[in-house]
Amino acid sequence: MSGENWVDVGASDELASKPVQELRVGTKRIALTCRDGQFGAISSVCNHVGGPLGSGTLDGDYVVCPWHYYKFHWRTGEGEPGYEADRVPSHDVKVENGRVLVSAAQKTKRGRLPHEPHPLARDPKREPGPIRVLGISTTSMTAAHPRYSTSEDLLEHALASARGHADSTCDTQLLRVRDLSFRACEGFYSKSARACTWPCSITQMDSKDQMDMVYEGVVHWADVIVVATPIRWGGASSLYYKMIERMNCIQNQETIANRHLMRNKVAAFIITGGQDNVQAVAGQLLGFFAELGCQFPQFPYVAHSRGWSAEDMENNEQYVRDSKALHDGAAALVHRSADMARVMIESTLGQGALVRGGRKGHELDTRAQLPGL
Ligand code: FES
Repeated sequence: MSGENWVDVGASDELASKPVQELRVGTKRIALTCRDGQFGAISSVCNHVGGPLGSGTLDGDYVVCPWHYYKFHWRTGEGEPGYEADRVPSHDVKVENGRVLVSAAQKTKRGRLPHEPHPLARDPKREPGPIRVLGISTTSMTAAHPRYSTSEDLLEHALASARGHADSTCDTQLLRVRDLSFRACEGFYSKSARACTWPCSITQMDSKDQMDMVYEGVVHWADVIVVATPIRWGGASSLYYKMIERMNCIQNQETIANRHLMRNKVAAFIITGGQDNVQAVAGQLLGFFAELGCQFPQFPYVAHSRGWSAEDMENNEQYVRDSKALHDGAAALVHRSADMARVMIESTLGQGALVRGGRKGHELDTRAQLPGL
């Protein structure tokens, strides 16, 4: 290794105080590690999606990426046992006269094991066929003791009507979110927009996580998405929020990759509550699905509540069960949505680039917002 390649990165006693830290060596970002007084240096750019290894932690012999926890050997840059070939570059490092010197030249190269892409990663492509309506019920209940749900009743009726429509039969699916076992969003986006990946990092890491069924349904299958929710303390159900937090990865593709996963999709809603706040809940639902790139039919939701003091829930249940108007309204909603989807699919409406759509309508200029950067 020639002498010109050595770069002085600082005093060894200061640098030894942190097990892992990120440094610049020329143009390279280096994760400098210190273990039992010995220094190591590997690239700070993670093999996965570029997470900052220099901001990670040291777990035994391995630097743990702070984004999704991939591990690389603190000195060789090799992946964990069995994945050694999935490696980041390593650099020579030495201490002279109390100074740490890191070689600017890579000692070993980056290597990537071939990974099969996750099935969800394929480009969304609508297969020919009838309009496909996905119902998503977000009400909560125990499987062992099921109960009548006003929102789910109306959703099931709407789907049955879509299937049975004489002139324009639709394919339908019903997902009950309570039947799916999935982890809460772990806030990868809060670390960095690029840490929130498509497919979702949890989905890629955890084959038991069942949010893949929602992703498959909304991104790859459905033309129409009908979400049904009860009103819980003035908001949508907790399962709704748990689900949509995990759907940030769909919207985030707009931000980080200018990639539109949701084209020609129509969203509509069924909202029922014993008391009040229909419009606030509808606003929340509309806002989120608008940011995913969905379109809406005219009058995009049906809703029902009996008012602030109507706490006689048994009567509320009976009211919805018996309400022809509500059932007809839910059926009409799904037909309006299917008609809207048909118009979009058969036109060129969603075919061009979606320039400055959604959040990108405002140029994200972090430097302007944070002048210190
Ligand atoms: S584990 Fe490092 S970027 Fe995902």
